[in-house]
Amino acid sequence: MNQGFTVWLTGLSGAGKSTIAERLAPELAARGCSVEVLDGDEVRTHLSKGLGFSREDRDTNIARISFVASLLVKHGAAVITAAISPYTQARAEARQRIGNERFVEVFVRCSLDELVRRDVKGLYKKAIAGEVQHFTGVSDPYEAPENPDVVVDSEVESVEESVGKILTELKRRGYFPKMNSAALSEVEGSV
Ligand code: ADX
Repeated sequence: MNQGFTVWLTGLSGAGKSTIAERLAPELAARGCSVEVLDGDEVRTHLSKGLGFSREDRDTNIARISFVASLLVKHGAAVITAAISPYTQARAEARQRIGNERFVEVFVRCSLDELVRRDVKGLYKKAIAGEVQHFTGVSDPYEAPENPDVVVDSEVESVEESVGKILTELKRRGYFPKMNSAALSEVEGSV
């Protein structure tokens, strides 16, 4: 069984966490990993149903996600989480729970100007108008990671480039031990 690990994506709403998670998942499966994605939007429809966006509720949401991730990692899964996770302290606790050697923090960077321009869900416009309270990056804090393991920048990179950067770090850490070099170069040719 492969050793499990968690790719912890953090960044503002609309920065591209879910898109990266969706594209990264099949790449990990192709490298022999058993993959699970824990996406903030989805988790909030069941595991974290009823939670809001106060600091306390966000911390509870992140603690639940990291708890489930830690269980999956123990069983050898590759977990990708995609939640804003705005607080440094909550991310540090997730790292501690999952294990430093098994935790890869990826900062999905994008400027607020660009996010407001994209505004895929229309929430930035509402937040700026004051119709949505405590919106991360507008009227609620986002503590950017100071020492992320990987930084991807959805403003200047393609999704493929971002996924490629993450895969490079995972490979460097030796998370794909079962693949021989011929098989690895075959899947890498497809990224
Ligand atoms: S987290 O802060 O607890 O990590 P999470 O990633 O689960 O957040 O949920 C963020 C999503 O909830 C956003 O992408 C957005 O669609 C929605 N949302 C609704 N209200 C807010 C808000 N006040 N701040 C941030 N996101 C919000």
